[in-house]
Amino acid sequence: MIVEIVKDVYFVGAMHWDRRLFDELIPLPDGTSYNAYLIKGGEKTALIDTVDPSKEEELIKNLEELEVESIDYIMANHAEQDHSGALPRLLEKYPMAKVVTNERCKQFLIDLLLLPQERFMVVDEGDEISLGEKTLQFIMAPWVHWPETMLTYLKEDRILFPCDLFGSHLAVSNIFSENEKLYNAAKRYYAEIMMPFRNKIRQHMKKIGKLDIKMIAPSHGPVYKNPEFILNAYKEWISEDVKNEAIIAYVSMHGSVKKMVEHFVEALAKRGIDVFPFNLTVTDIGELAMSLVDAATLVVATPTVLAGMHPLALYAAYLANALRPKTRFVSLIGSYGWGGKMMEQVKSMMSNLEAELIEPVIAKGYPKERDFEALERLAEKIADKHREIGIL
Ligand code: FEO
Repeated sequence: MIVEIVKDVYFVGAMHWDRRLFDELIPLPDGTSYNAYLIKGGEKTALIDTVDPSKEEELIKNLEELEVESIDYIMANHAEQDHSGALPRLLEKYPMAKVVTNERCKQFLIDLLLLPQERFMVVDEGDEISLGEKTLQFIMAPWVHWPETMLTYLKEDRILFPCDLFGSHLAVSNIFSENEKLYNAAKRYYAEIMMPFRNKIRQHMKKIGKLDIKMIAPSHGPVYKNPEFILNAYKEWISEDVKNEAIIAYVSMHGSVKKMVEHFVEALAKRGIDVFPFNLTVTDIGELAMSLVDAATLVVATPTVLAGMHPLALYAAYLANALRPKTRFVSLIGSYGWGGKMMEQVKSMMSNLEAELIEPVIAKGYPKERDFEALERLAEKIADKHREIGIL
């Protein structure tokens, strides 16, 4: 697919409509795209990022269709292979091309792709490269998604190329799609990939705020003709504000936990809290991650298996801990037959979260009246906490 997004700047990347898993971990319900952009600058030609190796022939075909005989610079904003993987092939096809990136990214590319030292041109914060009528400026922005990431800004056309940042795993036929589907895909992407780096993004947003941006062209998903669409969404997601929502990530083996969860969902709902229960046996982890972006409370519900949490609940706790959402309150609901140490496990598994741990409700066997009363008290306690922070 080739699209001239502004005069002499072309989308030359590839859609991956049927990819269903990223990094062998992240579900891709809507496929993804690897966006590369060609810039014809009058005197020099530059390519911003490349594509996943599985799509390199498509990138080459696009460049041939545009009759690109030489490329002077290939900007590598990020070393991960979905953007850098076609570099070896491109450096072979365009022997004069230099890979333009920062020192750290250069080292990654040498380690990961065995690229030769002499093919690099190293840039740092604020450096510029003139292509003739167009000028590229580099902004160092580590940790969106790896420690070497940077952004490229095309000054004359006021386009920001942020690579993974602001991206979405969404294959589209219209590169300028902007709708609720994009909002949800971008939020899912933020939750799965960017959320752990919330504090870093906050710093980068200050630098980005000083640029005069007309368009944001990330390296996954649609191009934003209206940058406020994604900038405002990010401002909300990275803020400290939480919503009056409780996530219940549960798994039940013989029905005890399920019965407790059913009761607890109602107990929270009748107190005015929006509740989102996720049955971990069928949940798309991306949906769970997305719900963690805003929710004030997370409750894990699990039976006891071999003295600990069910492995699916352990995974959910591990995931929440790794994604570092802004969750303020955490608790546990569970059942046991003859003992267990689930609360200790939750504490140690979720140490990254700056959340208050609220006393759990653990039933012996099937829940009884006293357990339902305890669930009511837990729901009231959570409601109190939500009131204390002014969201209920
Ligand atoms: Fe799209 Fe971190 O690569």
